[in-house]
Amino acid sequence: MRSPVNRQITLAARPHGNPKESDFQIVQRPVPVPGDGQVLVRNVLVSLDPLNRILMGNANSDQPPIALGETMFAFTVAVVEQSNNPAFAVGDHVAGTTGWQDYAVSDGSDLRIVDPDIAPLPAHLGTLGMTGLTAWVALTVLLNPKPRGTLLVTAAAGAVGSAAAQIGKLRGYRVVGTAGGPEKIRHLIEDLGLDAAVDHRAPDFTEQLAHAVPDGIDTLYDNVGAALFPALLPHLNVNAQIAVGGVMSQITRTEPFTGPDHLPDLLRAALYKILTIRGVNVTEYHGHSYPEFLADLAPAIAERKLHYGTHLVQGLETIPAAFTQMFTGRTAGKMIAQIS
Ligand SMILES: NC(=O)c1ccc[n+]([C@@H]2O[C@H](COP(=O)([O-])OP(=O)(O)OC[C@H]3O[C@@H](n4cnc5c(N)ncnc54)[C@H](OP(=O)(O)O)[C@@H]3O)[C@@H](O)[C@H]2O)c1
Repeated sequence: MRSPVNRQITLAARPHGNPKESDFQIVQRPVPVPGDGQVLVRNVLVSLDPLNRILMGNANSDQPPIALGETMFAFTVAVVEQSNNPAFAVGDHVAGTTGWQDYAVSDGSDLRIVDPDIAPLPAHLGTLGMTGLTAWVALTVLLNPKPRGTLLVTAAAGAVGSAAAQIGKLRGYRVVGTAGGPEKIRHLIEDLGLDAAVDHRAPDFTEQLAHAVPDGIDTLYDNVGAALFPALLPHLNVNAQIAVGGVMSQITRTEPFTGPDHLPDLLRAALYKILTIRGVNVTEYHGHSYPEFLADLAPAIAERKLHYGTHLVQGLETIPAAFTQMFTGRTAGKMIAQIS
């Protein structure tokens, strides 16, 4: 349903730790009018990402926050409502970064046309969108893409993790995932076809892990950071490669980690196991890498081999409450709000 006004979710307060509903405000503004060369888009799906928490400020991140009162940034799938730009026709579906709001104008430089027939629209925000691209860049461009041995993916039931795990399977790795809770473990094995899955919340996590990687870990795609990494470190094989894709356990922390200092273990392992450790920053690839990424996944898309798990909520007004769930581990798949 079309909104007669442009509802925008703006940043009302900077959180400490987990975000709260009161950190956001919903304001109403007139629907913007596109100028020369611009298009007016109506957002249909908006993405909820850990990046949104980082942009709110007071996060363990080097990324500068947005200003108080600013509309929240978001990856989106939208429909072109008016076009003064020959590259876009009314009715085109586009993926962009048009924010937590009903409407936006754009000169088109941040928009790419998506084909709703190749996959359901939410997939273009998840496995075929920014989160899938992140995993693909890591496993294809940044690390040695020649598959061998065991790939372990942390937070494998999450948006990036489920893409990394599935790309790993397509590449021929033996893929092991970590996730929290029995339902996510079932999902990883039965829906995503992983070779093994380990519940990091279970009391016997370390035993489960040792059992799941009897031949060690050759490639690690890590979304979690310091909360899990010390347990994984002893299982890394010589010449193991590590993509540091996210530090989910560190983003909202307000206190330093307590317990043993694992830095000496990491440095020793880096030396004697000859580790390759690569940070991942999808923004370096976001503008130009989609054609190659989608072409690479095209056979799997056509054969319907990919699973596009989503945690879908309905309505723009539900976003603040839904977003507070993101850091509890209670969500699985790509978090998306359908707003029109
Ligand atoms: N490098 C880049 O360019 C790039 C791009 C996109 C995203 N990212 C990062 O990638 C990470 C994952 O993003 P996403 O969109 O996939 O998030 P997501 O779908 O919300 O998945 C996050 C999952 O992480 C797990 N988790 C959270 N806190 C944890 C903790 N303390 N210990 C262990 N596990 C914890 C939870 O699942 P379980 O409890 O089930 O494991 C949670 O559901 C984030 O850190 C994000 O900032 C980076």
